[in-house]
Amino acid sequence: MKISIIGVGYVGLPTGLVLASFGNEVYFVDVDKDKINKLRKGKNPFQEPSLGGLLEKNIRDKLVNFTDQYSVAIPKSEVIFICVGTPPKITGEVDLRYVKAALEELSKYLNKKSTTIVVKSTVPVGTAKVLKKSLVKTGRQNVSIVSNPEFLREGKAVRDTLLPDRIVIGVDDQKSEKVLLGLYEPIIKQNFNNIIEERLSKEVPVVLTSNESAELIKYAANAFLTTKISFINEIANIAENVGADINEISKGIGLDPRIGEHFLNAGMGWGGSCFPKDTRALHQIAGSTGYLPVLLKSVIEVNNAQRYRFLQKIVKALHEEVEGKIIGVLGLAFKAGTDDVRESAGIEIVKELVDLGAKVRVYDPMALENAKRVLKDNGDIIFCSSPHDAAKGADALVISTEWDQFKQLDWRPFKRYLKKPLIIDGRNLFNPSFIRKMGFRYISVGRK
Ligand code: NAD
Ligand code: UGA
Repeated sequence: MKISIIGVGYVGLPTGLVLASFGNEVYFVDVDKDKINKLRKGKNPFQEPSLGGLLEKNIRDKLVNFTDQYSVAIPKSEVIFICVGTPPKITGEVDLRYVKAALEELSKYLNKKSTTIVVKSTVPVGTAKVLKKSLVKTGRQNVSIVSNPEFLREGKAVRDTLLPDRIVIGVDDQKSEKVLLGLYEPIIKQNFNNIIEERLSKEVPVVLTSNESAELIKYAANAFLTTKISFINEIANIAENVGADINEISKGIGLDPRIGEHFLNAGMGWGGSCFPKDTRALHQIAGSTGYLPVLLKSVIEVNNAQRYRFLQKIVKALHEEVEGKIIGVLGLAFKAGTDDVRESAGIEIVKELVDLGAKVRVYDPMALENAKRVLKDNGDIIFCSSPHDAAKGADALVISTEWDQFKQLDWRPFKRYLKKPLIIDGRNLFNPSFIRKMGFRYISVGRK
C-alpha cells in the first residue's frame, strides 16, 4: 500500500519504517526541514535501537521518501497516519494545534478515492469525531478516521512496534478496519523478516472498539502505569519511615500475578514526554466532563512531591549547605535507553541544584546533546565526557537515570575522584551494603 506518515518523531519514524519493511511504500512528511534532510541522508534524528539499520535498508530498497511537502505525499496515499505531537497547554489541556494543522494541510491534497486517516497521536476523547466533522464540512466525504493509539516505549520503539502486547483499532467502518488489519497482518501473525530476532509465541490480540474507547484506552493505560509508580513511591516513603526496604517490597508484592512485577521501581517519580502530559490531560478531560478524578489528582501530587523529596535528600545529605558545593549528576535522559530529556528528573534536579547555588558536573551516555539544548549553561553546569569526569572534585554524586553503564562501573576509584564519598541514588541501582562496604556514604529511595 501507499502510506503517508505525518510527523516523523519517536512514534512516526519507527511506525513508518516498520510498515515499509513489510513492502509498503511510505512517504514521511514533517515540517522540520532539518529532520527531513538528515533522514534523506540516512541519518537518524534520535537514538533508538534497530532504527538505523531499518532506515538504511528501506532507503536501499527505495521504499521510503522524506518530504516537507504534503502535496508530494498525500495525493498518492491510501492510508495516512497522523503522528504529530500533542503537547500540554499550561492548564494541562491537550494542545491539538499540530493535529489540526496536519489535518487542514492534508485535506487540501486528498485524492478522489476513499482514504483512511489513522490517528496515532494521543488525543482527547472525541477528537476523531471532531476531525471527521471538519472533513465532511469541507466536502471530503469518503474519508474514514481510525483511532489507533500507540503504546511503544522510547528506547524500545522498534521492538514494541513489532511485538506489541495488543493493537487497538477504534473505527466505525468495516473497510478501514480491513485496511488496518491488512497493514498490521505481519505483526499480528508475527510473520516478518529479520528486523529483530525475537518473536511472540502467539498472535497479537487486536481490540476493535469505537473511536472514543480507543482514545480513552490510551489515556487509561498511561494513567494506570503512573498510578502504579506513584503507589510504589508512596510505599517507599512509608518504608523509609518504618525501616523497610522498598526493593524487597516490590519483589514481595510483584510476584502476585494480580499485581505484576513491572513498574514497581521506586525512585524520583515518573517523567518523559508522555506520562506527565497524559496523566494531567486525563485529569483535565475528566474535570471538563464534571467528574472530579480524586485518584488521578493524588497520583500527580505524589509524583510532584517525590521529585521534591529527592531534592531534599540531597540538601539534607549536604547538611543544608548546597551553595558553593560541586555536585556530580549521572543521568540526564528521563530513563535509560533514550536520548530524550523531556520532563526528565535528572534535568529538573540539575536546575534546582543550580538555583540553590551549586556547581553541577553532569554526564549521560546518550542525552548530553539534548541536555545542552535545555540546560542553559551560565558557567554553573559542566558537561562531562565520562562518569569519572563528572565525579571529579565533587562533594556528592547524584544518580538520576538507571543506565546499565552506571551499574557496571568499577566504583572503587570514585572514592578518590570525589571530595567526599557521598552517593545519593534516585534509582536504587545498588545493594546498600555492597556500596557501603566500599566506603561510600550511600543514600537511596525507600531504604535505609
Ligand atoms: P515527536 O515530538 O518526537 O514528533 C512529532 C513530529 O511531528 C515532529 O518531528 C514535528 O516536527 C512534527 N510535526 C509537528 N507539526 C507537524 C505538522 N503540522 N505536519 C507535519 N509534521 C509536524 O513526538 P512523538 O514523541 O513521536 O509523539 C507523537 C504522538 O504520539 C504524541 O501524541 C504522543 O503523546 C504519542 N506517543 C508518543 C510515544 C513516545 O514514546 N514518544 C509513545 C506513544 C504515543
Ligand atoms: C511510556 C509507556 O510505557 C508506553 O507504553 C507509552 O506508549 C508511552 O509512555 C507514551 O505514551 O508515550 P516511555 O515514556 O517511553 O513509555 O517510558 P517508560 O519506560 O514507561 O517510563 C516512563 C517514566 O516512568 C520514566 O521516567 C521512568 O523512569 C519512570 N518509571 C518507570 C519509574 O519511575 N518506575 C518504574 O517502575 C517504571
